[in-house]
Amino acid sequence: MTTETNPSMNLKEAIAQRRAARAFRNDPIPNHILQEILRLGVYAPSGFNLQPWRFVVVRSPGSKEKLHACAFNQRQVAEAPATLICCGDQRALQSDNIEATIALGREVGGVNDQLADYMRSNIPSFVENAPSFGTIEAWTNRHTMLAVAHMMVVAKSFGVDSCPMEGFSTQMVKEAFSIPEAVDVCCLLALGYADEPFKPYSGRFELNQVCFGESYGESFQL
Ligand SMILES: Cc1cc2nc3c(=O)[nH]c(=O)nc-3n(C[C@H](O)[C@H](O)[C@H](O)COP(=O)(O)O)c2cc1C
Repeated sequence: MTTETNPSMNLKEAIAQRRAARAFRNDPIPNHILQEILRLGVYAPSGFNLQPWRFVVVRSPGSKEKLHACAFNQRQVAEAPATLICCGDQRALQSDNIEATIALGREVGGVNDQLADYMRSNIPSFVENAPSFGTIEAWTNRHTMLAVAHMMVVAKSFGVDSCPMEGFSTQMVKEAFSIPEAVDVCCLLALGYADEPFKPYSGRFELNQVCFGESYGESFQL
């Protein structure tokens, strides 16, 4: 097996060429590439660096069959060599994870005493007041989807296609894969090598339809 871990595509090409694949060949993803997708995916940013994302990697035929049934029998789940159950753990906001984040930051030199004190005193009140999210589930989804976005682009850069999916029953996925109550299932991410019929590009709105200048609804000009 090759140990080459450099992407075959640059960032711009990977972003532009990524499509939500609807059919996959059953060729496996080499372990070193899957590892890079996961490793670089979790370089995504997170509030206070709390990293609430969690991923269940589904590859065995038995697990794939279970997940397929939870995902309204979407063919991507049956065909893809790997599908991630992308979760967000609400307990990441609790003190043990705050302490683990501080310890990790200290280890790599990114957290000093002042920042540690700030995190200990501010995160609990931030959670209580939730000034920027209505529910903790919105908070876990916000973070997990950022990591998923990284993964899709990294995957494409290595020639691996993907399909993010919200078409699944949360209750069924949680039961079938022993996902704790405090953990939200944010999406599924099928990974593999796209097969025919290839999904065509379906277009994007113009920037002037989705970007505003200074105030919502005001026209934006470069
Ligand atoms: C959060 C989210 C959920 C999605 N759920 C599904 C899904 O359940 N099944 C599916 O086939 N595609 C799903 N998609 C893929 C979208 O249909 C697709 O991204 C969109 O049509 C744009 O196409 P493109 O990604 O190929 O450019 C989902 C995409 C996102 C971001």
